[in-house]
Amino acid sequence: MVKVAIVGSGFIGRAWAISFGRAGHDVRMWDQSPAATTGAHDYIAGVLGDLAANDLLRGQAIDAVLGRIAVVAELGEALADAVHIQENTPERLDVKREVFSLIDAMAGPQAVIASSTSALLPSKFIDHLQGRHRCLVVHPINPPYLIPAAEVVPAPWTSPETVERTRAFLVAAGHAPLVMKHELDGFIMNRLQGALLEEAFRLVADGYASVEDVDIGIRDGLALRWSFMGPFETIDLNAPGGVRDYVERYQAIYSNIFPQTLRRVDWAGEVIETVETDRRKRLPREELGERQVWRDRRLMALAAHKKKSDQEFGR
Ligand SMILES: NC(=O)c1ccc[n+]([C@@H]2O[C@H](COP(=O)([O-])OP(=O)(O)OC[C@H]3O[C@@H](n4cnc5c(N)ncnc54)[C@H](O)[C@@H]3O)[C@@H](O)[C@H]2O)c1
Repeated sequence: MVKVAIVGSGFIGRAWAISFGRAGHDVRMWDQSPAATTGAHDYIAGVLGDLAANDLLRGQAIDAVLGRIAVVAELGEALADAVHIQENTPERLDVKREVFSLIDAMAGPQAVIASSTSALLPSKFIDHLQGRHRCLVVHPINPPYLIPAAEVVPAPWTSPETVERTRAFLVAAGHAPLVMKHELDGFIMNRLQGALLEEAFRLVADGYASVEDVDIGIRDGLALRWSFMGPFETIDLNAPGGVRDYVERYQAIYSNIFPQTLRRVDWAGEVIETVETDRRKRLPREELGERQVWRDRRLMALAAHKKKSDQEFGR
């Protein structure tokens, strides 16, 4: 058990708090808005009940986990003795620069300082810090207490020890870190997601597929395998001789498609009318919130299923 500080306790901060608290750490949450931290604590209490019902609390009682997650009034109190500090303030470069300056000046030398930023490169907001060797990005997918993958992204000055310590810390907390060798726009997961979205918009914009058919292709097709293995393992198992055999047999299909994918489609152009009309027909705007609750329930059921299947069949 170590001390973990959460700086910024909105959507992502409160979700990390659940994950680190469940891992047995002593978590202290701070936010510049006291209302945010109090709201976060109430939210966490609610989620822990659902996690317990799905056996996703590592066999612990709700109160035991909740008892390890405290709200504090001062940043210094959150940072004192913290070994891992997770920053979750708004996605603005000026805010990140200022908050990292504060944290680096106040945190003890033992602390690693990680940002949850979705897309800002760490070199853009830690370059000026004395402790830049101990700073990096740990980018989660929301909510990290249900989705284990987290991208570990070093800046050019981040020390290998910081990267390795962070990787080990995440693994011990039940996460699946993807460790980048160098920072790159979009990190790994948004680059993969971006490639898919780009093609989805192009297929609809060019009149080859309906919005729903694209969703079916993922939901009832590719994603069934992708929910437990990645694209490389998928192709390794899709040819009798493994990945090389797959490439020899099927690369021509993809090299034929590739030149057709080099033309960008403006997502906000005409195509958004088609996409939005279809989506609103299937899901009225006023039902978005209800459907988000449904999505979170399904995610929780999937996380429970994956945990059970990992035990039964192996990962
Ligand atoms: N929401 C997501 O799905 C998601 C996923 C991955 C990463 N992220 C990243 O996580 C970070 C936080 O996003 P979020 O969705 O939790 O936003 P949010 O608006 O829900 O929370 C941000 C919190 O930061 C607080 N805050 C603002 N300025 C601050 C300051 N100077 N010091 C301390 N606290 C401050 C706000 O009061 C608020 O509670 C962003 O960098 C975002 O890109 C978000």
